Amino acid sequence: MSRETLTDITRQVIDHGKAGTMAQADAVMKLPAEMYYSKERFELELERIWRRIPLLVAAGSELPEPGDFKTMDIAGASLLITRTKDGQARAFMNACTHRGAVVEREACGHKSRFTCPYHGWTFSNDGRLVGVSAPQDFGDIDKQDYGLVALPTCERAGLIWVILNPDSTLDFDDFLAGYDAMLGQFGFENWKYISVRSFKGPNWKIAFDGYLEYYHIPVLHGQTFGTDSTNRGLYYAWGPHQHIKSPAAEKGHIATEVLGYMADLFEKPETDWDLETMTYGVWTVFPCASIACFGGGGRGVMFSQILPGAHVGESITNQIYLMAEPPKTDNLAAEAEAQFDFFQEVVMREDYATGYTVQQALPHSGLDHILLGRNELGNQRFHQWCDKVVEAETEDDLRQLFAGAERAVGLHKQAAE
Ligand code: FES
Ligand SMILES: [Fe+2]
Repeated sequence: MSRETLTDITRQVIDHGKAGTMAQADAVMKLPAEMYYSKERFELELERIWRRIPLLVAAGSELPEPGDFKTMDIAGASLLITRTKDGQARAFMNACTHRGAVVEREACGHKSRFTCPYHGWTFSNDGRLVGVSAPQDFGDIDKQDYGLVALPTCERAGLIWVILNPDSTLDFDDFLAGYDAMLGQFGFENWKYISVRSFKGPNWKIAFDGYLEYYHIPVLHGQTFGTDSTNRGLYYAWGPHQHIKSPAAEKGHIATEVLGYMADLFEKPETDWDLETMTYGVWTVFPCASIACFGGGGRGVMFSQILPGAHVGESITNQIYLMAEPPKTDNLAAEAEAQFDFFQEVVMREDYATGYTVQQALPHSGLDHILLGRNELGNQRFHQWCDKVVEAETEDDLRQLFAGAERAVGLHKQAAE
């Protein structure tokens, strides 16, 4: 089914490209400017979005073997993600149940047991408390009651989602709204993790906005890769998650994609359309991730996590590079590395440098709202979803919100079924 859906999308994108048309939002949207700088709003987003809904925390290939682990800080919480003996991905609060110290301080590694650096309590990688130091002196406790706090976790399509609320009753399937099946077309389970780069940026939504539209590409990236770009994006949504395609039909037109990639399909029957070309584009995962395809050094994706920083004006981006297979030769490896350098440079020096000017100027600009054009449909939807999640007061409201979310939005009715 997902292959058919991808074929439908591809056909639509080609049609739009040939006809010089695009799908647009109904109207220009006004977004209150303070959404980007209000401290109260930021706190509310941490509480209602980041600490309540599934977050795409890792690619499974970052921790491929039992015993592999990764730690992360998100929205104030310290997180420990592990792969247990049975191959399952698990996630826990990285906080010792004795007196709360961070148990594992390394960013990643391989351990089946974690020993707290404060008094030496030990936890297995499935979260159980397995050792209390000097138990005869400490006093009686039931170890079973003091495992690490476990978090709802699921691994789909070779990607790992975690909810920071241990008591969450949300349904991962409702939240993913079928998008996991679309992402499943990549086969990330068999891909390889190559490297990660982390750096700061402006407010997480200012940063994320740049991943959601192509309108800025020929302008802001005019000196780097945007020269020959189309500035149009087509958007397909599953719940709050959006796949962005470029409707360019001619070789020489790029967005964040390879030159004229769709043009190669024009002459072929649909049954010969290959998954690699059809999955090409940007796949965003609400609220924090963008998966963008590239071809340098071999088939790969830049999986960007955009996480809120310590205050409203700061975000942290992790650029995680995954490839279908590790580059086979030194030349290919160098080509891939040069591409990672290039992506990091462009995002930091062009996207985020400009985002910082928004961050700095907006509060004192006299603007009470900013505009998102009919061509910035992806940004409109993203901000609407942020609002919807923030406005869902109870866990029940939140569950209903995702349970009722539409799937395959943007496809012709028939194709969406
Ligand atoms: S806080 Fe971890 S052993 Fe004491
Ligand atoms: Fe950009």
